[in-house]
Amino acid sequence: MTSEDITIHRGLTGVYFDRSNTTYIDGKNGVLEYRGYNINELAEQSTFEETAYLLIHGTLPTQAELDEYDAELKSARELPEQICDVLEMVKDSHPMDALRTGVSALASFDPDRNDNSVEATIRKGNRLTSQVPSIVMAHHNIRQSKDPVKPSTVLNHAGNFLYMMDGNEPSAEAMALMDKDFVLHADHGSNASAFTARVVAGTAADIHGAVTAGIAALSGPSHGGAAENVMQMAKEIGTADKAADYVQNLLSNRERVMGFGHRVYKAEDPRAGHLREGVKSLSEEMGQPEWYQILEAVVEAMKPYARRGIHANVDFFAGVIYYLNGMPQDLFVPIFAVGRIPGWTIQVVEQFEHNILIRPLLQYIGEREQKYVPIGDR
Ligand code: ACO
Repeated sequence: MTSEDITIHRGLTGVYFDRSNTTYIDGKNGVLEYRGYNINELAEQSTFEETAYLLIHGTLPTQAELDEYDAELKSARELPEQICDVLEMVKDSHPMDALRTGVSALASFDPDRNDNSVEATIRKGNRLTSQVPSIVMAHHNIRQSKDPVKPSTVLNHAGNFLYMMDGNEPSAEAMALMDKDFVLHADHGSNASAFTARVVAGTAADIHGAVTAGIAALSGPSHGGAAENVMQMAKEIGTADKAADYVQNLLSNRERVMGFGHRVYKAEDPRAGHLREGVKSLSEEMGQPEWYQILEAVVEAMKPYARRGIHANVDFFAGVIYYLNGMPQDLFVPIFAVGRIPGWTIQVVEQFEHNILIRPLLQYIGEREQKYVPIGDR
């Protein structure tokens, strides 16, 4: 093959590499469905537990199935003591780095660690769904020289996550918003982190390895890190009347406005609107309406870019919700990971079910046929 015959798809943009029956995305029209169910209905009517079940099993659960799944999740919340020792050793790391280390270490303690069957992978994925929130909050307490909060045996997934932050039971509103946030983040096709997880699973490595790698991919500011940067941006803007100048300044320096743009959505990200309402009500309820006003002013300033397909993405409104819930900024990306475990689990399972090594090609453009010169003669 000559170099003229080679077409380079940088960033694999627009490349289909397999088939999936998990998540449907129509980026042109801003449609997202998990297993054929529209995200708008799931965000408004479902719960994280039900949505996670739907993703893993492909159908909405009956009440009995949901109760059984819920009990399975609740029973897996507590971490092995050794994981807390590991988290102590990395307590000064960014929470995403600590999470990556914690998930990797958990592999050694999983009862199914030597079993890579689909059934065992689902069991491991379900345990990770419960253990990842515990790692995030255990590390959060350990880094403040506090003992981790023992997980609740009664609160739902979202409520328990908030509870483990400081041992205080969260308000019903805070739990409901967190739950919605997890539903919205549960899966999203072949994004950078899910693709990374699939590449790892493609070698027949285990789900702990795949999720560890997925966490690493998610941590970057072009992917999961945006919510943290949006909050930083909102703080720097300070008041809504300064938003337009701030945005203009970024754009004239050819910098990115965080929380805007998406590789797939060229219409509005269907997840963003659900969180926009949350920011509005929460910021008013907490007597801090300025945060919503600042974000809205940024949206207004970005309106001319909508024509080019650049709209607010899911991360744009998420950060302020976390902030108003008392979360430190560096927990924003781990929260994304907490919601995403069912998605990574089912994508690893799909990969295993018809596995193939994922191995694309690179066109070599460097020197050829160089003559080796011994070190003393160079
Ligand atoms: N602000 C300003 N301009 C933007 C933005 C933005 N946020 N996003 C894209 N653009 C512009 C680019 O400058 C580029 O313009 P040009 O053609 O004049 O050079 C054009 O839109 C296309 O941008 P690309 O980087 O080629 O688009 P890509 O699909 O690779 O980028 C990405 C997607 C990485 C998400 C990008 O929009 C971005 O950096 N956004 C900010 C970070 C962010 O919010 N990430 C979260 C994504 S959602 C998620 O992971 C859950």
